[in-house]
Amino acid sequence: MRVLVSGGAGYIGSHTVLALVAAGHDVVVVDDFSNSKPTVVGRLESLSGRHIPVHAFDLTDADKTERLFDHEQIDAVIHFAGFKAVGESVAKPLQYYRNNLDSTFALVDAMNRHGVTKFVFSSSATVYGEKAPVPYQEDYEFLSSSSPYGQTKVMVERVLSDVAHITEGWKVALLRYFNPVGAHASGQIGEDPQGIPNNLMPFLAQVAVGKRDKLVVFGDDYPTVDGTCERDYLHVEDLAAGHVAALDHLDAMTEPVRAFNLGTGTGTSVLQMLHAFERAVGRELPFEVGPRRAGDLAAFWADPTRAQSELGWRATRTIDDMCVDTWRWQSANPQGFPDA
Ligand code: UD1
Repeated sequence: MRVLVSGGAGYIGSHTVLALVAAGHDVVVVDDFSNSKPTVVGRLESLSGRHIPVHAFDLTDADKTERLFDHEQIDAVIHFAGFKAVGESVAKPLQYYRNNLDSTFALVDAMNRHGVTKFVFSSSATVYGEKAPVPYQEDYEFLSSSSPYGQTKVMVERVLSDVAHITEGWKVALLRYFNPVGAHASGQIGEDPQGIPNNLMPFLAQVAVGKRDKLVVFGDDYPTVDGTCERDYLHVEDLAAGHVAALDHLDAMTEPVRAFNLGTGTGTSVLQMLHAFERAVGRELPFEVGPRRAGDLAAFWADPTRAQSELGWRATRTIDDMCVDTWRWQSANPQGFPDA
């Protein structure tokens, strides 16, 4: 298939571009580079050995989105592009709702006008909210999220579901990611957050290269194995493979829309992750325990059974693999991707 990857220059998008090409698909990228660098593209081209067509614009511009579909032949869309910082979304809710919803509306409109009916959406485990039983299962009914960011995921899932149910031929896979970490085995692409990282793994990696003094562990009095929060970390290359599996499965889907958890099914604590990262780096890393972060849940992980049985997908890489690959990327690229 010829697949439009929105946000294809971002962390998960870029790894998915490589997985798609390796699986024999053609790729077209649309990205406004608001949270990624254009130099990613050169690395994708050298790693894949292929020219990657890139359209640099903001998908909320419906006219440009329409023209993209006029000019490129597209068989399916994988939609990553969106704002994703939880804290920022609380401060700027309208920007988050507008950006994440309008981009989806523009894509869906253009797809409908051009007869494109295959859609894979980058959703998140955050849609399970605060009350879903752990491990999370896809058929949990009461989706909600405490942050505007998370709520945009809930809303876009709903929009796509309504469209898919009413529009002949539509097939939508909603992929609910747990905590993606790691980097491509080449060490040439990886997560490159702008500013101070919000998330654990990129923060740890920056401590290890000396860009940050120490990790602050957000609370050690949770009812977990060692008092620190547990999450279901999965390797970004496993996650990328999950997108290819979902895309290839769309035609076989008996319902117009289906959600899939992409996770390992195992929880790992913050301290366990810290120690795994120390093993990868080969030395101890400085940390201190601070207060809890508002909005954090003690522990959650996926029930990945559905993805295993229906997509034939399972995460294969270990926590140590995730840390080794993150470290290979971060140590070779301490400043992330170059500006030019
Ligand atoms: C966060 C978001 C989630 C989003 C996901 C991907 C929150 C509450 N949740 O998930 O909605 O989908 O990122 O962007 O922000 N930790 C530390 N010190 C740090 C950073 C993190 O101890 O400096 C801990 C956190 O308390 C948490 C764990 O590490 O227990 C993982 O945190 P993080 O990587 O931010 O992911 P989530 O909070 O699970």
